[in-house]
Amino acid sequence: MPIITVAQRKGGVGKTTIAICMTAELARRGHRVALVDGDPQRSACQWAELGNLEFPVYEIGLGSEPVARWARDVKNVKADIVVVDTAPNEREMGASIAIANVMLVPCTASGLDIEATVHTIGIIDAVRKRRAEPIRVLLVPNRVDRRSLEGRQLVDELKQFEENIAPAITNRSAFVRAFAVGQSVATFAPNAPADLEIRALTDVVEKALGARRITK
Ligand SMILES: Nc1ncnc2c1ncn2[C@@H]1O[C@H](COP(=O)(O)OP(=O)(O)OP(=O)(O)O)[C@@H](O)[C@H]1O
Ligand SMILES: [Mg+2]
Repeated sequence: MPIITVAQRKGGVGKTTIAICMTAELARRGHRVALVDGDPQRSACQWAELGNLEFPVYEIGLGSEPVARWARDVKNVKADIVVVDTAPNEREMGASIAIANVMLVPCTASGLDIEATVHTIGIIDAVRKRRAEPIRVLLVPNRVDRRSLEGRQLVDELKQFEENIAPAITNRSAFVRAFAVGQSVATFAPNAPADLEIRALTDVVEKALGARRITK
């Protein structure tokens, strides 16, 4: 069962937003997908609490549990693809990277995100050294404002990491409003620009998984 981890050392970069909306799009395409909320803040669980998501969300926090036990609980989730939303702390990130096949690292135009990305890639590289199986990393430019210089420069800055760069997600109120009503953007604003951006990201994620698209 492939595991997609959404992680970044910095908080508030859009991990939960991207995890929820991309998981919804995978579900819409016919994949049997589930989301694991590994963050004690429970943002993904809160998003799901209104009952408007098309896939199950499980709260499986690491806390002070041994990593091996947490990893076993995540791998026991009944789904064909599991997406893990993580807290921005070192231990939880390390645990969720260790079990990932594909990793999404949201990054915004803030300079602090670039610093945090250096740190995040450092953790990924440490896991890569200990593991034969590859981790496909996708840096996801998020909350991009194409009108600002920083927004236009973000993709260029991300090139320094020599990882794959996913199609950018723009700063759009639809993402904030979708959370407020507990829906994915695909349900809240079908075919709107935010939905189309998530679809473009999901295309790349499906390719990274080597997954076959089941429905259009
Ligand atoms: N593309 C976007 N456009 C507009 N708002 C966004 C976008 N992505 C995320 N946000 C908003 O940014 C805030 C932080 O997003 P989110 O909770 O997804 O980040 P996070 O990385 O999961 O945070 P944390 O580290 O606290 O878990 C939320 O209010 C969310 O609605
Ligand atoms: Mg979050």
